Amino acid sequence: MKKALIFKISFILLIILVLGTAFFVFENKNPALPNDNSSERCEQKDLPYLDSNLSTQDRVNDLMGRMTDWEKIGQMILIEKNSIHDINDITRYNLGALLSGGGAGPKQDTPLAWLQMINNFQSAAQKTCLKIPLLYGIDAIHGAGNVIGATIFPHFIGLGATRDPDLVRRVAEATAEEIAATGIYWNYAPNLDVAKDIRWGKTYETFGSDTENVAQLGLAYLEGTQNSSNGYLKVLANPKHFIGGGSMEYGTSRNKYFKIEEGNINIDEETLRQVHLVPFKEAVDGGARAIMVGTATWRGKMNSSNHYLLTDVLKKELGFSGFIVSDWYGVYEVAPSKYESLVLAINAGVDMVMSPFEYKDFMSNMQKALFRGDITKERIDDAVRRILTVKFETGLFDRPQAEPEGLSVIGSDEHRDLAREAVRKSQVLLKNTNSALPLSVSLDKIIVAGAAANNLGRQAGGWTTEWQGIDGNYGISGTTILEAIKNAVSKNTEVQFNEKGNFSVGNNLADVGIVVVGEKPYAEGWGDNPNPKLSPEDLSAIEKTKAKSKKIIVVIISGRPLDISSYSENWDGIVASWLPGSEGEGITDVLFGLYPFTGTLPVSWNISSN
Ligand code: BGC
Ligand code: BGC
Repeated sequence: MKKALIFKISFILLIILVLGTAFFVFENKNPALPNDNSSERCEQKDLPYLDSNLSTQDRVNDLMGRMTDWEKIGQMILIEKNSIHDINDITRYNLGALLSGGGAGPKQDTPLAWLQMINNFQSAAQKTCLKIPLLYGIDAIHGAGNVIGATIFPHFIGLGATRDPDLVRRVAEATAEEIAATGIYWNYAPNLDVAKDIRWGKTYETFGSDTENVAQLGLAYLEGTQNSSNGYLKVLANPKHFIGGGSMEYGTSRNKYFKIEEGNINIDEETLRQVHLVPFKEAVDGGARAIMVGTATWRGKMNSSNHYLLTDVLKKELGFSGFIVSDWYGVYEVAPSKYESLVLAINAGVDMVMSPFEYKDFMSNMQKALFRGDITKERIDDAVRRILTVKFETGLFDRPQAEPEGLSVIGSDEHRDLAREAVRKSQVLLKNTNSALPLSVSLDKIIVAGAAANNLGRQAGGWTTEWQGIDGNYGISGTTILEAIKNAVSKNTEVQFNEKGNFSVGNNLADVGIVVVGEKPYAEGWGDNPNPKLSPEDLSAIEKTKAKSKKIIVVIISGRPLDISSYSENWDGIVASWLPGSEGEGITDVLFGLYPFTGTLPVSWNISSN
């Protein structure tokens, strides 16, 4: 009796164990998809999709018909280049896209080394069976900021102040030329966020708070990037971050180090549409082919898993037929496990995943999802079709690799002149008591102070050379504001510089003191700031310089309005210079009256306390 019971229990336990193991094996089984590299398949010549005379649609159809599921999945991943430890993995995993994150360049950061690095990556892709080229992306959000020697244009907030679509179009085109010279044909710009809270560290990446201005300049930037005479996109633009990031609430970030970035949006749908959707609609109508979905959460749901926003609104309602790429690791924060996150995001409408670190996990999770039917073959085909269509449109299959001869456009005189034009048109005159400005070029004595007066890193801001920017005169070639002042004045004018404002001028006050102050470089997340303002050192430099000069001009280098309301009364002239970039002479062009001030505020800035 007892024995029989033990036997029964053991039997039941055994069944449970067997079933459990079977379930576990099924759950975790990754059917190794065949990566068919047979010579019969891979050595075929004259394949239709490689024929540039065929239509894009025919080429895509032909190529899709030849691809294995494994190859298709490889097209859906975007990896940061520093995560590729073995270049053969590009071939092995059929990786479709790479990016350089902020500051991620070749060991020796020269334009030639960039070109060689990209060409090497492309050569690895050429070793795959179907030879699908890589799409290589970069944040050239104010010029090719990662490449030492590039022209650094004003950040978007400054371009927002110009309200000049023609200028913005030319800036985008010059930027596209500088990255294309190194073999990069995908720029993660324009930023179409509408910044509603200047405490957000990404404020300077935007054209400001006015939806119409953002939409107009965003469209101009998109056109300038993509327009090309040879029938292909010059460079693929990438409007971002879909959608509503500019309305994330302070203090809601998922990231313990940040305040706003990766936070929650609480506005209703009507406001979301009126304020934030308009620029994306314009961009889609204007030819956007890739759009990045941001890492914000709208009313409890992360944008990257929101089927309604991505598929119903963006793809169906707006008719977006390009591909949706997710933002840095954004997809994986959707659900507790990577697998579930991926399934939710891809089914919501994400076509390409900026992983950005891991491709092995991605490949196996996607295989598993396909095998289990959690992601359908149709969804994968749709995503890959979108991505390949854009790859053909950029001419990637037909372009020869970039050549060193083309590198001379990087930092060319023509581009620097354009940047200087953009700088002068972006300057906003905030205050000008008794016509303190413009200054005469033949004054006897000018004293210059402030931590940003002779500092290209501060002029350029974040996303220059390093992700969070740099502080000092290295890694960027350009003209500081101090140098620009010296270049602008007559040879009889004495220009004295002391960063802290320690001048010994005796009894003769200087004709003018110019103090250049503002924010230290920062980028997203780390730049979230409860109260953007001037530092005590800045204020002290201003006070000391003021005491030694007949009038005082304060030039503010910043990514957003700073609270100067308690002091501004004491200053004669105040200029909002934003983050002008490499060409400091654009500032002296207006300080010394070679050109008038024409910039207007892209976000509101109340400078006085009354
Ligand atoms: C930013 C994007 C950027 C991406 C790649 C993200 O953290 O939000 O704007 O394009 O990184 O660098
Ligand atoms: C990368 C950036 C990226 C950021 C996101 C950085 O390490 O360089 O490109 O936007 O991480 O957190």
